[in-house]
Amino acid sequence: MCGIVGYIGNRTASEILLKGLKRLKYRGYDSCGIGIIDNNKLIIKKSVGKVEEVAKKEDFLEVNGYGGIGHSRWATHGGITKENAHPHTDCKGELCVVHNGIISNYKELRDMLIKKGHVFKSQTDTEVIPHLIEEELKKYENPSEEDYINAVKNTIKKLDGTYALLILNKNFPNLLIGLRNESPLILGVKEDECFLGSDISAFLEWTKEIIPLEDGDMVVLRKESNNNDKDKDKTKNKNNNVIISYTIYNNNENITDRREKTIIEWDIESAEKGGYEHFMLKEIMEEPEVIKNSSKICNDEIKELAKALHNYDKVYIIAMGTSLHASMVAEYWFSKLNKLIIPCDSSEFLIKGIVDENTLVIGITQSGETYDTIKAIKYAKEKGAKTATIVNVLGSTATREADITIMMGSGIEISVCATKTYMSQLMILYRLFIEYGEVIGKDMSIYRKELENIPEYIKEVINEKERENIKNISKNLAAKNYLFISKGINLPNALEGALKFKEITYLHAEGMSSGFLKHGTISLIDENMDTVALVPPSNSNLFNSIISNIEEIKARNGKVVGVSPVNIDIVDYLIKIPDVMEEVSPFVYAPACQLLAYYKAVELGRDVDKPRGLAKSVTVE
Ligand code: G6P
Repeated sequence: MCGIVGYIGNRTASEILLKGLKRLKYRGYDSCGIGIIDNNKLIIKKSVGKVEEVAKKEDFLEVNGYGGIGHSRWATHGGITKENAHPHTDCKGELCVVHNGIISNYKELRDMLIKKGHVFKSQTDTEVIPHLIEEELKKYENPSEEDYINAVKNTIKKLDGTYALLILNKNFPNLLIGLRNESPLILGVKEDECFLGSDISAFLEWTKEIIPLEDGDMVVLRKESNNNDKDKDKTKNKNNNVIISYTIYNNNENITDRREKTIIEWDIESAEKGGYEHFMLKEIMEEPEVIKNSSKICNDEIKELAKALHNYDKVYIIAMGTSLHASMVAEYWFSKLNKLIIPCDSSEFLIKGIVDENTLVIGITQSGETYDTIKAIKYAKEKGAKTATIVNVLGSTATREADITIMMGSGIEISVCATKTYMSQLMILYRLFIEYGEVIGKDMSIYRKELENIPEYIKEVINEKERENIKNISKNLAAKNYLFISKGINLPNALEGALKFKEITYLHAEGMSSGFLKHGTISLIDENMDTVALVPPSNSNLFNSIISNIEEIKARNGKVVGVSPVNIDIVDYLIKIPDVMEEVSPFVYAPACQLLAYYKAVELGRDVDKPRGLAKSVTVE
């Protein structure tokens, strides 16, 4: 998840862009850059490293000019190199683009453009965009502003995927164009200048008046002299005799009047948290967007791994913490295709793993740095196994060790508690399940169809009404001990629910299969131990068995929170989730459990984003 910022006005753009990039640092970055039109020249400055370092090394502030775009990169396509840093340009270096999102059809577009003679400088998906605009502009001998805007519109029609884009062209120095499709982009307006940013923290210092752009929106910011009176959204700069206007189009229609301005009262800190109290809640709320990203990236790598799954009989998925729970969900998915994969705690792998050259070892690690997982991947390699990793940080140790790297595409996660990265891991593994099914000749179309629906299902779990319900339930839970139970594909979610709950509330919680309950733990049930039961729909063959376990708990005075798509009379509280097919259900139970842990921890006054004694990445044994 990259950060983008754009500026047009009467101040030096480089200063504003640099401040904006520093504000967007929390979105994660491995490289950054700016593009500014200075005296009819397009100046690009970019490099690998931290924003401050790059700005100093490349001397961002030496660039004059009053319009520019900036980008901080969190790599998903292409390594962390200067060439892959944004902005990206066309062949002639006349126009530049910064992008947050994923262009999923970039390979076809790139091949087509190369055939037409375009020369690419990076391995990114983004670079196809300036070349496509360049190609469109070839249709005109002397393109007017309108032709240029149409060239951008035609380019966008060719893109599949998600994007927030900013475009600058030295031949049209008075225009700054922004576009949004499923990646955030906010317009900031002021008397004599306008801003565009991935979020308001990028420009909150300068204006509190904003217009959040919507999917399909294209905004054209135009600098013009004040004797042109045709645009009603212009504002006049009295000192410089300049007008900055903005026009918003959606599907070619000018809809500027339909986008209301909002006044933001947040300070910078709450702006970085998207107005939420904690990063954890912000990151849970990002899940639908993040899941969309994860459903689109690394097609080739997923196909390659699916083939490897077919070629190797012995497959381990090794991971720690939340990542291990994601691998346990995968075990259920693959069992439906008669494929045995063995989830394994990385720290136990060297002890019990049976590894040789006929083994495929997949390491899941959001950080790519977890000591035990790295050690296990290295061990597998030494034994001649084929290795792969599913990871969120490109360039991390895991990506350097494994034969196949699949990016999760979650963007940086700041809260120690893994939430959106878990959802991305599930999405990548779900896609792997689909691909593998197709490799072995199964019709996986019903699962493939669900890829688009999953973000919508998640929205139903995390909407305001449900959040309020979960918050109220958490207030009613007064026990010191908690049990999370389920059966089948959501058993890993029960384990994950307990992990989330204990790590941030500091209350004892454990997860287990409802079948296992009778074999010891049930003796603990009384009014001091509450249970969270993840219950499948009533048409599931597991329903009756879980219900009878809940009855046993109730008979011992235990309180029960049901998480289910059906109304269950016997539970004390119910978190209602959408009724989806079993294979998709892990995506809806997980956020419900995350929110329950979150609200309980907030109520107890815990340091939610930085729970005591825990680290985001555990790089020691
Ligand atoms: C730490 C984090 C967990 C994470 C685990 C594995 O314990 O606090 O949230 O699940 O490490 O991390 P990884 O980066 O390998 O997924």
